[in-house]
Amino acid sequence: MFLNQTTSNYHKTNKSSNIMKHKFILLFAFITILKIQVSAQSYNTLWIPPTLSGTNFNLNIKDTFAQIVNTGNQTITGGINGKFWGPTLIINKGDVVHMNVQNDLNDSTTIHWHGMHLPAVMDGGPHQVIPPGALWQPYWKVTNNAATYWYHPHLHMTTEEQITKGIGGLIIVKDSIESALALPREYGVDDIPLVLTDRDFTTSNQFSVVPYGDSMLTNMTLRAQYTIPAQVVRFRILNGAIERSYNLGFSDNRTFYVITSDGGLLNAPVAKTKYLIHAGERVEILVNCTGQSGTKLDLKAYNSLLGGFIAGGENFPNGPFANALGRIDFNILHLNIGAQTAIPITTIPTTLTTNTLLNQASANLTRYLTISDSSGVVTVPPILGPNAFIINHKLFNINYIEYQVPLNNTEIWQITSSSLFGHPFHIHDVEFNILSINGVAPDATQAGWKDVVFVQGKSGNTNTVVRFIAKFDDYADPLHPFMYHCHIALHEDEGMMGQFVVTNTNGVNVNGKDENLFSVYPNPAHDKLFVKFSESNQSAYYIRITDALGRTLLMLPNPELQNGIDISQFSPGIYNIQLTENKSKQTVTKTFVVE
Ligand code: C2O
Ligand code: CU
Ligand code: CU
Repeated sequence: MFLNQTTSNYHKTNKSSNIMKHKFILLFAFITILKIQVSAQSYNTLWIPPTLSGTNFNLNIKDTFAQIVNTGNQTITGGINGKFWGPTLIINKGDVVHMNVQNDLNDSTTIHWHGMHLPAVMDGGPHQVIPPGALWQPYWKVTNNAATYWYHPHLHMTTEEQITKGIGGLIIVKDSIESALALPREYGVDDIPLVLTDRDFTTSNQFSVVPYGDSMLTNMTLRAQYTIPAQVVRFRILNGAIERSYNLGFSDNRTFYVITSDGGLLNAPVAKTKYLIHAGERVEILVNCTGQSGTKLDLKAYNSLLGGFIAGGENFPNGPFANALGRIDFNILHLNIGAQTAIPITTIPTTLTTNTLLNQASANLTRYLTISDSSGVVTVPPILGPNAFIINHKLFNINYIEYQVPLNNTEIWQITSSSLFGHPFHIHDVEFNILSINGVAPDATQAGWKDVVFVQGKSGNTNTVVRFIAKFDDYADPLHPFMYHCHIALHEDEGMMGQFVVTNTNGVNVNGKDENLFSVYPNPAHDKLFVKFSESNQSAYYIRITDALGRTLLMLPNPELQNGIDISQFSPGIYNIQLTENKSKQTVTKTFVVE
């Protein structure tokens, strides 16, 4: 890391130098090159996040620290059940999964299940704030296809900061179609998760909250290397960067095979030598290393090939976006090819699945969205200047819902961008199919289920037009919105985000407040608290339990109450239970005692 900083300082120094300094700088550059060659040999073993599987997951988010830079101070990080990042959750399509998300940070946060189709109240967007000390218990039935998803903080205006700390994790969904294929699936052996990001470190090894880092971090490992077996190896790659796109390829320019888009398998593997992955996107690839035992290989970002309007393709010499990795090629992972495993996969399958994509003719309507820069938009605070990016000519406002999407609608979303810069556009709730990019059908690697689409910068005076189609089935909820936004965390935090609700015809019907809506028993309570409604057709939409000081301890979206609420962790005292009823959406608060 320090060496990389030296390199970038060199660039900065060079910029402001005069000829008198020239000789010195040449010498300095020479020493820098020598040091980089030395450091190129000092690889660190790639860290493989631990896994959790089953249907019940305990995730404890906390402030912690980790030795990320080899020498010197540890880095202050945010971790889930560990020192940074979090466990890989392995879940099965069809299961109901329960999450126990305990926020032990000193800050509020949220945890969003990126790519999952689930109720908005479980989604973990900016509305599902988990205060410090609180336990949030969302659950949902997994309906997503087998693929790689992820979870990450999503609190408005602190997403960049909390992702920078390292809070997040992967989700691997399994299903019967994927399981029946001859694919590598031994986690950490021939099925390897790769979380790509980059960070800027201060001189005392702390993360700076900036859009671009000077150092590549692969699974939070600097200068990562790993030994893979001499057979077909699967990499599950997440672009978890704040801003940067990575133009993936191998050092020998070998062909690899793309087998998934964000939300599932492609119909067949697609042969590629480069694959450009944008913030928030995932891709699984197969690389055939059969017969190559004893050789070495690098997975690299060929970002020297990117245009200046793709994140990571800029090469600003200084200013807030200057960084040592801008528009250059750099290593992501050094690979040593070792021995074959006992039961290797040695061939690339020819087919994977049969995707039934949404038919354009089935769309109920087309929504027209715009992406633009903020010049001339008076509502944009001057601090963002004309350089913020906005959707539909407005900055994000958490109290404003842009779209009411009728339940079961199939919709085309057409995004017209007049921005020079490219933006990875992400939508919650659904996986979609890309219909066209500037009138052309997408590349075969993008012709499956997606939840992020790259909206490239306009070319000359011609705006970019991206069309996708999605079906909004299940989970109508008039109160809790889903988000759509640019997945560059800097842009999102600055307000490049909007929200929609999925509605059905049974609207909210509040007939005043019924203080007798529910009662709780036993009271005083010990381990379990039970809820009894005044009418049998009532149910809980949301429950929040606070202590006598008003601090939130427990957040239960749409709780299943038949077994009572587990309050065994509560110390003796007085508590409030605030319950919102499902149909009427009225909220009533009761007091109970734990003894
Ligand atoms: Cu991965 Cu709304 O985000
Ligand atoms: Cu998301
Ligand atoms: Cu953006």
